[in-house]
Amino acid sequence: MRDYEFVDSYGTFRLQNPELTSYLYFPIANETGVMGSITPVGGGDLKMGQNTYLLAPVSSEDLHNNKASRNFWCQIEDMGIWSVTGKSALQEAELFTKEKEETELVAGYMWQKVTRTSVKYGLTAETLSFVPFTEDTVEIMQVKLRNTGMDSITLTPIAAIPLYGRSADNIRDHRHVTSLLHRIETVKEGILVNPTLTFDERGHKQNKVWYGIFGAMEDGKLPESYYPCVEDFIGEGGSFENPGALWGEKYKPVNAGYKKNGYEALGGLRFKKVTLKPGEEVTYQIILAFGEGKEQMLSMIRPYLSKEHCGEIFEQTNRYWREKVNIGYGTNDKNFDAWMGWVNFQPILRRIYGCSFLPHHDYGKGGRGWRDLWQDCLALLMMNPTGVKEMLYDNFAGVRIDGSNATIIGSKTGEFIADRNNITRIWMDHGVWPFLTTSLYIGQTGDIMLLLKETTYFRDPQVCRGEEKDPFWKPEDGNHIKTAEGTKYYGTILEHLLVQHLTAFYDVGEHNHIRLRGADWNDALDMAVERGESVAFTAMYGDNLEQLAGFLDRLELEGKKSVSVLSELTLLLTQEEGVYEDINKKRQLLLQYCTACRYSVKGDKTILTCSQLAKNLREKARFIKEHIREKEWLTDSRAYSWYNSYYDNNGNPVEGEFDLGVRMMLTGQVFAIMSGVADKEQIKAITQAADQYLYKEEIGGYRLNTDFKELKTDLGRMFGFAYGSKENGAVFSHMAVMYANALYQKNFIKEGYRVLKSLYNHLSDFEKSRIYPGIPEYIGDNGRGLYHYLTGSASWLLITVLTEIFGIKGKYGELSLEPKLRKEQFNKDKKAWVTCMFAERHLKVTYNNKTEKEAGEYSIAKITIDGELYSFTEYGVIRRRDLQLLSEKGIHEVVVELL
Ligand code: G1P
Repeated sequence: MRDYEFVDSYGTFRLQNPELTSYLYFPIANETGVMGSITPVGGGDLKMGQNTYLLAPVSSEDLHNNKASRNFWCQIEDMGIWSVTGKSALQEAELFTKEKEETELVAGYMWQKVTRTSVKYGLTAETLSFVPFTEDTVEIMQVKLRNTGMDSITLTPIAAIPLYGRSADNIRDHRHVTSLLHRIETVKEGILVNPTLTFDERGHKQNKVWYGIFGAMEDGKLPESYYPCVEDFIGEGGSFENPGALWGEKYKPVNAGYKKNGYEALGGLRFKKVTLKPGEEVTYQIILAFGEGKEQMLSMIRPYLSKEHCGEIFEQTNRYWREKVNIGYGTNDKNFDAWMGWVNFQPILRRIYGCSFLPHHDYGKGGRGWRDLWQDCLALLMMNPTGVKEMLYDNFAGVRIDGSNATIIGSKTGEFIADRNNITRIWMDHGVWPFLTTSLYIGQTGDIMLLLKETTYFRDPQVCRGEEKDPFWKPEDGNHIKTAEGTKYYGTILEHLLVQHLTAFYDVGEHNHIRLRGADWNDALDMAVERGESVAFTAMYGDNLEQLAGFLDRLELEGKKSVSVLSELTLLLTQEEGVYEDINKKRQLLLQYCTACRYSVKGDKTILTCSQLAKNLREKARFIKEHIREKEWLTDSRAYSWYNSYYDNNGNPVEGEFDLGVRMMLTGQVFAIMSGVADKEQIKAITQAADQYLYKEEIGGYRLNTDFKELKTDLGRMFGFAYGSKENGAVFSHMAVMYANALYQKNFIKEGYRVLKSLYNHLSDFEKSRIYPGIPEYIGDNGRGLYHYLTGSASWLLITVLTEIFGIKGKYGELSLEPKLRKEQFNKDKKAWVTCMFAERHLKVTYNNKTEKEAGEYSIAKITIDGELYSFTEYGVIRRRDLQLLSEKGIHEVVVELL
């Protein structure tokens, strides 16, 4: 197996023999909602949502088992049949022999090209697959055939792509019955399917979606005939890898104008026979399309029948995505820089695919979870800070008045839907993320006044933090909390944040940490609803409270002396002596608040001075931090120390030394460090313990936990997973990256670098990770990267590299340069650069480390902007207003001399 290599600075890569690695899939999609996954041999699927799959849905195991694919055959006169994608029985049989055909994959953002050469036939096929960036709902497959042999060759090309055309649910729910709904028709350009109904026994609906597969030869010549039905193509006893129709005369194609009802459909397009002389080539365009009607679909696909049009749109698509990823890096390691391009691209992918719709992500019906929504914003914010403002603002309308939030997120921003399944589940970490994203936004833009903008609160039948249901609530009542008078209630963003944090502060378990409830960040800690507590996220709530106080100071500085909050909220701002320590009192207060706001709010506001409120929040923060420091720091018999992260459903601490071995979890360490609960000495001790108990170089570094060797049914399903997989002890990218981030934040640069380096070294080693460039959700115990592309870790990695390593930090809108690049990260010219957006300007910031100092030893000696010396008044800070004097066009050179 050979590694992939990057062919340009945009991350375009080349890989030989890609089909010799299993489980590989690649995303091709657009922002109109076309979502494809494609394997090196044209497998994968294509859909626009859960109920509109053009190609049948696939899970990871189907990637090697499925015979259905985007196939394109050459019926070669007097010789045999050949699949340009290698999906034939014969080619598969040759895979592990010396007859194996040479293949090469090249891929860039939203496109892949596979070249396959058959020595036997003297033919080379180049198959390009992409989804145009436009509003067209199509996938394009362009096949270029070239005679690379010595003799002329005569062949008949046949595209053969099964048209599934229905909901993913029907893959094993009335698969056959739903084929009876198919209305199939051939037109000159190809084959159309318009199922009569969308099948759902709870209520069938008339179907409105059209599916089609069309094609043309390079000179615009349309297919000569068609195979619109699976049965009439594969023939009796045949299959998609050895179709009967390609042998003899028994199965005949049909002409345009043919109609057939009630069969599995096929996009089978038979083109005119061609003869290619040595060196000659010919190109075919195949278009897989979703439409709203026959004419609409035909007029949408017609331009793509032209080779030139496909070529142009391909170029534009390539450019479009490259421009979208407007962050670039230049370090000593060009491969790392290119690899990071894919990481930057991943949050865009998750915005399109949600957390479903790639082969490993075979769950959910699209959509993202609450925390994913906010974390993806982190990266999008860095690429386009001003554009994210609306999104941030809209998302706050998902917060409930009890501090919990909507969990079903609609496809439009700010659209939250009541859970029809009536699952009452509260994730205790959900309140933490909106603050982190808002804080990054305020840092980047200086727009502290966002906190004073008002928006609504989400309302559905779930009340009192999931403990009660409102039997009277009806969907017609709307998804907004109202005042007693029945008008929509509006509160500031600041108030929303206060609601989230103050309710959490009082929602404690028996050890006075915030209750775990349905789970925290770790979704698989879902079996400790009654008595579980998350020390990890309690720490983070504590720190957020402190930072929120900082925002109040800032508001005051900007002339805002007081803020108004929902009157009921003052219950949670009590200054009564001894409340913080008193668990029962805390719970009572929370209940009192939740009861007061159960169905509606009074609607009046209380005015609080910023300083008064800030003081109150700081006291709470201090309490949380000191409480954790005092109670949760543990030391084992080998003198390793770290923080306990959780309490289980029996009320016991989860970590420490047990009969079955040492138990340590990374999550608690990350948040103890990030929140400032852990002091310097403790951070040092934590890194030593993590190196001892969690680090495993062969699989990319720091695991999520040690092996508990117990099915802990009093904590969560994670213990049911095999050790070393997913949330049970895998190297789980998200937490590993957050560990690095926390270490960098606290200036543990060497240690943070080690975390990222071990992760990157493993993932970029194709032989070990067996995935395309980018960061997957986790690394399994055999070293394979799993759940590629759709993971929150990409956002965190981007943020860490940009804001911590390159030190592009926003401080209330000013650009503060605080690089933490290690000596070895500078290139041979002793430079390292990053391109990024700041103050709506595109900047290239180059650090010049002439004296070759190590991180922590150098300081900023001089800054020039576009060649002119910049005199900074505050150390290392470039004022926003100075940046805004620069032109909005082009890239501005910021050169920073380090000494
Ligand atoms: C996934 C989920 C995320 C969750 C995590 C741990 O991780 O999307 O919400 O917190 O599992 O259970 P991801 O790789 O997307 O970060």
